[in-house]
Amino acid sequence: METLDTRDLKIIKATSNGLEAEFSLGDEHSFKGTPLTISFPFEMLRGQQAVVEISYETSPEASALQWLTAEQTAGRKHPYLFSQCQAIHCRSMVPCQDTPSVKSTYNARVSVPKELVVLMSANRDGELPDNHDESRKIYCFRQTVPIPSYLIALVVGCLESRVIGPRSRVWSEKEMVDAAAREFEETETMLKTAENLIGAYVWGQYDLLVLPPSFPYGGMENPCLTFVTPTLLAGDKSLSNVIAHEISHSWTGNLVTNKTWEHFWLNEGHTVYLERMIGRCMFDEELRQFEANSGWKSLLEAMETLGPTNPLTNLVPELSDTDPDDAFSSVPYEKGFALLYHLEQLLGGPEIFMGFLKVYIQTYAYSSITTEEWKKCLYSYFCNETEVLDQIDWNAWFHSPGIPPFTPHYNTSLTDGCISLRKKWTTASDSELSCFSEEDLKNMSSQQKIEFLALLLLEPPLRLNKVEKMQEVYNFNGIKNAEIKFRWLRLCLRSRWEKAIPLALQMVTVQGRMKFTRPLYRDLYNFEKARQQTIDTFMKNKPSMHPITAALVAKDLHLV
Ligand code: BES
Ligand code: ZN
Repeated sequence: METLDTRDLKIIKATSNGLEAEFSLGDEHSFKGTPLTISFPFEMLRGQQAVVEISYETSPEASALQWLTAEQTAGRKHPYLFSQCQAIHCRSMVPCQDTPSVKSTYNARVSVPKELVVLMSANRDGELPDNHDESRKIYCFRQTVPIPSYLIALVVGCLESRVIGPRSRVWSEKEMVDAAAREFEETETMLKTAENLIGAYVWGQYDLLVLPPSFPYGGMENPCLTFVTPTLLAGDKSLSNVIAHEISHSWTGNLVTNKTWEHFWLNEGHTVYLERMIGRCMFDEELRQFEANSGWKSLLEAMETLGPTNPLTNLVPELSDTDPDDAFSSVPYEKGFALLYHLEQLLGGPEIFMGFLKVYIQTYAYSSITTEEWKKCLYSYFCNETEVLDQIDWNAWFHSPGIPPFTPHYNTSLTDGCISLRKKWTTASDSELSCFSEEDLKNMSSQQKIEFLALLLLEPPLRLNKVEKMQEVYNFNGIKNAEIKFRWLRLCLRSRWEKAIPLALQMVTVQGRMKFTRPLYRDLYNFEKARQQTIDTFMKNKPSMHPITAALVAKDLHLV
């Protein structure tokens, strides 16, 4: 007998070693789906292997899949399909052991209409004619490195590509492919930087796929093919930490994997640490300090949103009855980073700590581990520093909610301009508003403008006349950069500026990155004057939204 995860799958037939096998579906669970039990038509001995084949259909509602009509694409001529399996959506695409504790290689053959292109989280392995249908062709893939189910990924669309490095292409609909090639031209430099830091890149190709605007994340580390949001392309070209982050997952996450979603910080905390080390190597320590500092601020913000006693703010939360999508927040990223940075400081600095990370990766590559195993590796690598390590309040770090038991100190040289401008705005009296001008932002990078707005968002709402003045002097309404626009609109909504309502409703409609869409929907909902219009907009958008985003926004708007 064998039990697999499924969700909204129609099982047509199962065989084992070619013999028809009986199967049954269990009770449906709200977020875990339905267990599929297959009985072997012969006796299985311990250690014996069998080939199981399952014929099945996915559903239009599959939580892992978004099926876009031609009208929903940039080219408007062909339909488009993409998957997003992390954390537990793979089961709605493939019957599988849908847990990060199990790893497998895979081969795939996908038949599609000839005009379309298929890509997967694997190396491409040629194309074949489809002998059953002249209008179709077959794309072949091989993933020879064992991966957990959440890293299986599929996209079908009218895609084109450009070469951006010796092992990299960028893929998207043709309307965006040249802009994407320009935006991501530093990819190979980042890959080399990462390899120098942490070891060889073992996956072969490192391609990027720019998805349609409804893609729910900034990036997703699908092996051989990182998925990214098209919102990275808006505005001036600026070096994106999303790519450094997803590249870093090639080691932390994809080689060494969290054994369960309760240990998700192992994936994301280490990845943020590596992402910032790449920034340090390509630029300088000041930049790393700036990013670490803004990460700490976003941890504080998450604590405010979730509440400092919320058990989901534990670094290692208890998730037996929680949908991982509901548990998602900045906490595993930034509390995880804060712990690693704290250790780095205690144990002798970045170079010494990278020595540990390299050994950690070598020790656990190709496996899935818990926080305990990580800690064991740490103690064994720093066996001459046990007194230092024993001073750490591990229980507080791992199992207590709220802000960490140690507050890091970062160099603020790149943040100081943002802090003083924030202060000028919060303290200015009405008669002093004339002292602001567009000059204020002249020497600020996009990152610094984002930080300036993020700092204002940690304060009580600005008075409406200040926000209006800010629009007059900085014209943030005209800005394309999605990170700036997002924070600006939140600021306006919190100050109850009605003019921002249609702009915010537009932003949640034209793109679906959850980091932007969910807080904007929540702020709109909390703005009494905008509430009904917000619910109406959501109900209208829902059929064309990504299933994961639609489900979470429905909860945010108290509609379920
Ligand atoms: N693996 C995550 C995205 C994810 C997490 C999808 C959990 C589903 C469930 C990805 O690596 C990520 O962290 N993306 C961030 C990038 C940012 C931290 C630079 C994002 O999407 O914003
Ligand atoms: Zn990540």
